[in-house]
Amino acid sequence: MLEEVNNLVKKVNTFTPVSQEEINNFKIEYLGKKGLLNGFFSAFRGVPNDQKKEIGAAINNLKSLVQDKIKKYKDCFETESVNTDIDLTRPVTLSKLGSRHPVSIIRNEIVDVFSRIGFGFSEGPEIEDDWHNFSALNLPKEHPARDMQDTFFVQTDPDVLLRTHTSSVQVRHMQNNLPPIRTLSPGRVYRNEAVSARAHCIFHQVEGLYIDQNVSFADLKQCLLYFAKEMFGEKTKIRLRPSYFPFTEPSAEVDVSCNICKGKGCGVCKKTGYLEILGCGMVDPAVLENCGIDSNKYTGYAFGMGIERIAMLKYGVDDLRLFFENDVRFLKQFSSL
Ligand code: DAH
Repeated sequence: MLEEVNNLVKKVNTFTPVSQEEINNFKIEYLGKKGLLNGFFSAFRGVPNDQKKEIGAAINNLKSLVQDKIKKYKDCFETESVNTDIDLTRPVTLSKLGSRHPVSIIRNEIVDVFSRIGFGFSEGPEIEDDWHNFSALNLPKEHPARDMQDTFFVQTDPDVLLRTHTSSVQVRHMQNNLPPIRTLSPGRVYRNEAVSARAHCIFHQVEGLYIDQNVSFADLKQCLLYFAKEMFGEKTKIRLRPSYFPFTEPSAEVDVSCNICKGKGCGVCKKTGYLEILGCGMVDPAVLENCGIDSNKYTGYAFGMGIERIAMLKYGVDDLRLFFENDVRFLKQFSSL
């Protein structure tokens, strides 16, 4: 019997299954009810006492070898079978990315274009006081030009309002910084206007301000030409029309050549070949003085533009309301930008 057991030990040691089925059969052969080991255990009763110790140890050894073998290969086939379910050559599913809002895209682009010619970045509060939004900008109380910007007042206090333009930030910036000043201030503004395809009660502006010695109108014109070319393409032309703003003197409105008809005249530019994009001018000396800057020593220019307006021209959007409705069908068109 001892020899029989030892032969099986050798056999078990060299047994290398290649499938789960072989393992199952091996288990039944050795550990099954009518299996080899049970056969040995029942025959063991007839073994003479003096051999019991040796043969008993040999049978137990065989049993644990069989159990170890089963355990080893059972785990092996289990993990393999899980792995075979995964196709490692399958392309991965990309998680869906959101898209940046077109207003943010254009805002970032404007800030970027001006940062390349030395403009810094500044921000101010959306809830403003009368002085920063109007009075310091040469719009004293009862000034008729206040009617150009219908204002939302906060509760019943006529001194607290939602800023109507980002020009309020130039006042704050001049109060807190010494010239030379070169800053760009983007932000949200509010006006009490009926909502339509061309007007909204909320929109975004970017304000530009440059103050130094000997700043001229020619500098302003060159800076805006650079901006227009960067934004709308190298062939873009600009046109300045005399205008009026209380905080600049002289003042101008700036048009860019229509990038849809390339200046020939179309429905979008109403056959003029040009589209208005911003207001600008030389900062009025009274505004400089209001903000603590010596107007005998320094001059400067300022400009302000609507971000939605630039986005509409650049992307061919014909309804301002689309920027505020958050319709994903509109927004996802900008996902590659
Ligand atoms: N604040 C003006 C507006 O909201 C835009 C503007 C015009 C800003 C002329 C300026 C400027 O800085 O010089 O319509």
